[in-house]
Amino acid sequence: MSQDILILNGVVKRFGKLVALDHLDFAVREGEILGIAGPNGAGKSTALAVCTGQLAPDAGSITFRGQTLTGRQPHEFCHAGIARTFQIPQVFSSMTVRENIEVGLEFGWHGKPRGSERSLDTVLALTGLETNQMQSAASVDLITRKQIMLAAALATDPKVLFMDEPLAGLNEAEIEIFADLIQRVNAELGIAIVLVEHKVRTLARLSSRIMILNFGQIVRLDVPDVIMSDPEIIELYLGKSHAA
Ligand SMILES: Nc1ncnc2c1ncn2[C@@H]1O[C@H](COP(=O)(O)OP(=O)(O)OP(=O)(O)O)[C@@H](O)[C@H]1O
Ligand SMILES: [Mg+2]
Repeated sequence: MSQDILILNGVVKRFGKLVALDHLDFAVREGEILGIAGPNGAGKSTALAVCTGQLAPDAGSITFRGQTLTGRQPHEFCHAGIARTFQIPQVFSSMTVRENIEVGLEFGWHGKPRGSERSLDTVLALTGLETNQMQSAASVDLITRKQIMLAAALATDPKVLFMDEPLAGLNEAEIEIFADLIQRVNAELGIAIVLVEHKVRTLARLSSRIMILNFGQIVRLDVPDVIMSDPEIIELYLGKSHAA
């Protein structure tokens, strides 16, 4: 039985009168890939922001490996072992590819014995950035910026990695490359990944479980086969154009 490592209990997030997260209860299991899908405005990015400490919930709790993180700062979430990537890749363009990842390494290092953080070279090799590590990050293409952002997140030595629409903006061939990379990060490093993605066929291929959100509530949480054969889900929440 896989263990629950990150547990959300009754999490509520409001923006004024809008209830973006409406008493969310779910758990991320050790080493799994949990997919999250749902229509625009469903609360997917808000859920990620709450799980990684960028937003504090208005009610409810977030517990990670038995430790309550509710109300803590983002760097405390990071130091506990929770990392994230963003839909728009954020890189330091005045630095090289390697220096960008070193920032993640420094950020993730927090008094642990040196060497316990994931080594730079391991991360560079896994993400395919070894050959262009000395290149300026200003001049790289979108998929490379995504690889840099992923590598910097991995350098913080997370146990859980949250990714917001990692495949957005990539072409078909690049989607294959990046989906394969996500799978290898999960399999080779044993990191649990929570993946928000509109490309539901790829999401179904990668995920062990899929959660469907709508109006800040969980509509379904099940294995991909069940989700993908549910006509109501396809019609109501995933849209008809889910070819990818
Ligand atoms: N900072 C904010 N201030 C006010 N309202 C917000 C804020 N962030 C999100 N919202 C609102 O909260 C709801 C959930 O937004 P969220 O970004 O989590 O949706 P999403 O599921 O990620 O959508 P998408 O698929 O378009 O990325 C939306 O109605 C959105 O307009
Ligand atoms: Mg979003």
